[in-house]
Amino acid sequence: MLQPLRCAVRRGVQHSCCRRLSLSAQCYSSARKGLVLGVYEKNKEDEILVLTQAGDRFDSTVSGKLRDQLERSGPSLKKGKSRIFYGLHQEFPSVVVVGLGKESVGFNQAELWNERKENIRTAVSVGCRHLQELEIEQVEVDPCGDAQAAAEGAVLGLFEYNELKKKKKKVVTPALFGSKEEEAWQKGVSFAEGQNLARYLMESPANYITPTRFAQIFEEKLGKLGSNVKVFTRQKSWIVEQQMGAFLSVAKGSEEPPVFLEIHYTGSPDPLESPLVFVGKGVTFDSGGISIKPSSGMDEMRADMGGAATICSAILTAATLKLPINLIGLAPLCENMPSGRANKPGDVVRARNGKTIQVDNTDAEGRLLLADALCYANSFNAQAIVNAATLTGAMVVALGSAATGVFTNSSWLWTHLQEAGGITGDRMWRMPLFEHYSKQVTESALADVNNVGKDGRSGGSCTAAAFLKEFVTVPHWAHLDIAGVMMNKDEVPYMRKGMSGRPTRTLIEFADRLSKDKKPS
Ligand code: BES
Ligand code: ZN
Ligand code: ZN
Repeated sequence: MLQPLRCAVRRGVQHSCCRRLSLSAQCYSSARKGLVLGVYEKNKEDEILVLTQAGDRFDSTVSGKLRDQLERSGPSLKKGKSRIFYGLHQEFPSVVVVGLGKESVGFNQAELWNERKENIRTAVSVGCRHLQELEIEQVEVDPCGDAQAAAEGAVLGLFEYNELKKKKKKVVTPALFGSKEEEAWQKGVSFAEGQNLARYLMESPANYITPTRFAQIFEEKLGKLGSNVKVFTRQKSWIVEQQMGAFLSVAKGSEEPPVFLEIHYTGSPDPLESPLVFVGKGVTFDSGGISIKPSSGMDEMRADMGGAATICSAILTAATLKLPINLIGLAPLCENMPSGRANKPGDVVRARNGKTIQVDNTDAEGRLLLADALCYANSFNAQAIVNAATLTGAMVVALGSAATGVFTNSSWLWTHLQEAGGITGDRMWRMPLFEHYSKQVTESALADVNNVGKDGRSGGSCTAAAFLKEFVTVPHWAHLDIAGVMMNKDEVPYMRKGMSGRPTRTLIEFADRLSKDKKPS
């Protein structure tokens, strides 16, 4: 027999408003709580339905009605597909059940990712968004056996950039259903919030997120974290003192002043332990400069600070989670604009290490900023330097949005990056750093190096990486070209379309792994 519904506001008391589902307006709004539950896909239609542990528990509190209704309402739910049930439970008037795919899946060698985690992220994201569309603000989520992945799916899935619109989606704060995996859930929330911050910064218009504003945001956020976090917002005079002539040559084309943001997080029990240094390209708008880009799609270049956004957000998250590692973040921030002061094709500039660079294409500006930032990074006795940059359109052509391209001189770093990407689902793919490409950038008519390969556009991502290598002196360095993963259309099913904030979670996971590993010599 159907249990009479009790008021979710005044529990246990039955008033007329609670009869059946005809709640009064007051009770109705307070009772709008939703639940997202996962269900595995059947191998054959006549098999018994496999719910998650939390789903099973819920089903027994409603005397098997969930299972019953699921069986009656249609075929077994496919991966990422959802069905909603109303009035099953007094506390949760709306229950969304989402397909988790096959129960047996785990790490997929062909795909190089943990399929189980990816399926959980997708299912939870779908379920949460379903409830958000119904304007249900309180949502509890089935941990689906991996509360971190579930939290990531919920928090990434619900994010939408609507800062500048009058009409906004309901703010939904997802919570864990049950209490067993609270720590893992919180970790997932932190990872996803880190990525959402990078998404927010990348999506924001370039007239809002200028170099100055970018630095302010991290000053504010990191300033709250305590004495083991330090932020230095270096102004132009400091950049000049440092003789960062390549970075300055890009910045001088714009009216916006450049900033060199430097972040230190000392999380290791040994404050003198060698740091992991992250470097991020921070071009808050890339018009191409005098080698101006075509106007169609140029607006996307507001996200050309994705390297800076992802590395700074990863450090903020590492500090929030108190990871036992020392981290330094370096972000050269400026605009690339055409003006009377801008770099001209054929100009020669001098980097911090004294090398001269012929700027044959002013649109290859990211490598100029990074050349100086990498020279500076060399001075920290780093255990490793990892830079992230939306560096080349050729990366979009090579890998699309499937994975970040990794160019590295260290197999130790590569192993950690690859493993981290397999866990987060934000994958890495190794690319070559052959001498072949170095030759193409080190032969230049007027200077020591050229900012474009002499072979034209062929192997564009590889020549860009070879250029950066000219400014690195450490044995463990990796360059992450994130141009291909900068945006999401619908490839990552647990995120709405827009700037992706990738690979923030992989950087956090990587730092976490490195904090547990023996350092190589
Ligand atoms: N920011 C762009 C690369 C980019 C393209 C990022 C598409 C994200 C999506 C970079 O500064 C650039 O313009 N690179 C040039 C280099 C070329 C002139 C050698 C490119 O890739 O076309
Ligand atoms: Zn450019
Ligand atoms: Zn650029």
